[in-house]
Amino acid sequence: MTTKLKRIEDKVLDRVKPNGEEKEEIQRVSEQLIEVIEEYLETSVKPRLVGSVSKGTYLKDPDIDVFVRFSLSTPKEEMEEKILKVGRKILDETEERYAEHPYIHGTFQGFKADIVPCYDIEKISQMKSAVDRTPFHTDHVKEHLSSEQRDEAILLKAYLKGIDAYGAEAKVWGFSGYLCELLILHHGSFKNVLENAKDWKPGKTIETVEGKRSFDDPLVVIDPVDPERNVASPVSLEKFALFVLSSKLFLEEPKLEFFFPNESEEKSAEDLSRILEERGTDLLGWRFPKPDIVKDNLYPQVQRCIKKLNQHLTRKDFEILHSDHFVKDDVVLLIFEVEHAELPKIRKHRGPPIWIDNTEDFIRKYGEDAYLEGERVWVDKKRENYGVKDAMEQIIKEVDLGSSINPKLEEKGEFLVDKGWIEEEKSALSEFLDRKFSWEH
Ligand code: UTP
Ligand code: MN
Ligand code: MN
Repeated sequence: MTTKLKRIEDKVLDRVKPNGEEKEEIQRVSEQLIEVIEEYLETSVKPRLVGSVSKGTYLKDPDIDVFVRFSLSTPKEEMEEKILKVGRKILDETEERYAEHPYIHGTFQGFKADIVPCYDIEKISQMKSAVDRTPFHTDHVKEHLSSEQRDEAILLKAYLKGIDAYGAEAKVWGFSGYLCELLILHHGSFKNVLENAKDWKPGKTIETVEGKRSFDDPLVVIDPVDPERNVASPVSLEKFALFVLSSKLFLEEPKLEFFFPNESEEKSAEDLSRILEERGTDLLGWRFPKPDIVKDNLYPQVQRCIKKLNQHLTRKDFEILHSDHFVKDDVVLLIFEVEHAELPKIRKHRGPPIWIDNTEDFIRKYGEDAYLEGERVWVDKKRENYGVKDAMEQIIKEVDLGSSINPKLEEKGEFLVDKGWIEEEKSALSEFLDRKFSWEH
């Protein structure tokens, strides 16, 4: 078993770990990027390479993370403005992103790069923003992670990428690079992390140092450079469960597909229609122009929006089997699979037992429509909306779905109910209807 695992690990490293030549190139480009930033900014600010490139825990095609440290007296707005301006000059294909404050992403000589402003602090206690911790994370990992363990961290990252649980951003709600490194530091190797993870239960706590407060997250990993913080706080319950379950299954039968899942194939419109026919369910799609806000804000808003729509549809008696969101280049698509797109036009509404004083009020209210069944009065009420599309329209009118989404939906939202849209949204629907584990593809 161990030898099989070892063989797989070697194969994975062969594929994802940069070779000597690639490492040299990344090193060279990173140094140049730092030099160029230095040229553009006054000498008092200090750019520094952080992240996986500086720690030797990067996979092929990494991003180069440069944190630019400003003196504590610099106003926040000023340093943000400077970084965005410089970033737009130096980088290509730039895109403004957002952590606790704005930073810039782009490419430099073909490599992805992040340039992030932060404060130049000596101790964590001087911290003004969450990103100020990053240089301390870098130092901690560089100091403690051995060179063999760097490969173990690369394996863990590749594995988490394979099962779609890598990355702390809102699109994934998974494991960050730094969290992977801490898990390797704590358990020693990729294999040991999984051996432990297979028995984790929600609330699992790893005290790299003694924690200073309690957390309510599924996974708690105390930050060794800041014991007030849980490094695993972005990990959602579902991604936590996915990691635990996959660890059990992978250790039972290790295979490369956990690291490199086969793409789920795009089905033809005929196949999709047939699958839906066989399932006997109904679909409702909803497409609207993508709000022009950064990803880190868009994903949480879309996620809250779909959760609210689910709640309100459920309140209107629609049974939702599955729902999901797809953020594309210029549109957002929400898909709901419901038991029935059309409910009966009436709803059986329960009144009080007749022994209770206000029975008369109920009868007065509903007049001759009220009837007795068992010990209660009832009435068959007309539904406000009996079709799922009407119900959705009503909900949008009445419910706050998020500041950037509300206007989009009212103005340009497009409902997709008839079979017509299956052809248009083949790829999203193929993904939506394929619920298999990634490693089973
Ligand atoms: P990365 O996301 O690039 O992670 O953030 P990484 O450790 O380099 O791993 P890979 O190999 O690229 O996936 C780099 C550093 O920047 C900080 C993180 O703490 C991390 O240590 N960071 C990143 C932020 O502070 N805010 C962000 O929004 C993103
Ligand atoms: Mn990085
Ligand atoms: Mn980065």
